[in-house]
Amino acid sequence: MRIVSGIQPTGQLHLGNYLGAIRNWVRMQDELPEGAECLFFLADMHAISMPHDPAALRAGTLELAAALVACGIDPARSILFNQAQVPQHAELQWLLNGTARMGWLSRMTQFKDKSGKNREGASVALFTYPVLQAADVLLYQATHVPVGEDQKQHLELARDIAQKFNNDFASEDAPVFTLPDPIIPPAAARIMSLRDGSAKMSKSDPSDMSRINLTDSADEVMKKVKKAKTDPEPLPAESAGLAGRPEALNLVTIYAALTDSSVDRVLAEHAGQGFGAFKPKLGERLVEVLAPITARFTQLLDDRAALGQVLADGADRARDLARPTLEQAYSALGMVR
Ligand code: TYM
Repeated sequence: MRIVSGIQPTGQLHLGNYLGAIRNWVRMQDELPEGAECLFFLADMHAISMPHDPAALRAGTLELAAALVACGIDPARSILFNQAQVPQHAELQWLLNGTARMGWLSRMTQFKDKSGKNREGASVALFTYPVLQAADVLLYQATHVPVGEDQKQHLELARDIAQKFNNDFASEDAPVFTLPDPIIPPAAARIMSLRDGSAKMSKSDPSDMSRINLTDSADEVMKKVKKAKTDPEPLPAESAGLAGRPEALNLVTIYAALTDSSVDRVLAEHAGQGFGAFKPKLGERLVEVLAPITARFTQLLDDRAALGQVLADGADRARDLARPTLEQAYSALGMVR
């Protein structure tokens, strides 16, 4: 069993990242069977696919490392590293570019969303981004990839690339790549914006009121929850009553995830209440979960040299794990090394 996942160091870590992915990384790390391994990385090479500010990326990388450790990623048990410090990711991407098909990449919804009406002006990196993501996991023979719902299509592509490469260049009894399974949480896999129940909570949303950042103060959290868009109806007794009420469903989903409950159970407990009563409870619960993370984050950022060392050690270990698969891929393609 090998667990691999990544996150882009662009902007603040938010509640969607935490509930959709990071919390599961920590759980998988904490329940890891003997002999299994976790690798978690900062996908800074993905971050250059969109216009970006180098100084912000540099600062954001160390901050995200601190945030992940504050959330419970333990560098003694998991390999925590920064993608640019492991050049094998880029090398394998190039090799996989020979296998990935233009048609497959053209169907990626993230490319369509992010390039919008300006396809001609989008970077080539934005187009080939999913191939780098495939390299990220195939390089380590990942078996499980814990991600939020929005990454499912990219993981399916990674499986298609692995399968085609194995078919084209390896024998059936000695495949080069393992087909990775996406692990998507049954609930909270898609946390929505606090301002618009039809858009996902995102680092790139221009409105900071649309998301809860893991470093928001208690006051900010309470204010954002209070201002979150809702409707005037009271909470129903069952989830069927939330149909057509995406903002209400989102807040109840967040509450359920934070209390390790289900939407139906939360509704059974709060049926008939309006948001004036429900929102303060949600805010308090959020503050309870986030306050220790924020405190630890601030403390970790005091020692940037130590964080740099964690990433350097993680990259050493990742490079060692990456080498054999990369060599097999070169050799399968007939390249002389
Ligand atoms: P990124 O940086 O956008 O997000 C990191 C993780 O957080 C999840 N996530 C969400 N989950 C629920 N609700 C939301 N609103 C929400 N927003 C984000 C994402 O699904 C993701 O799991 N391409 C990836 C990074 C990446 C990667 C990889 C992931 C690069 N290589 C290899 C897995 C394996 C990305 O941009 O995630």
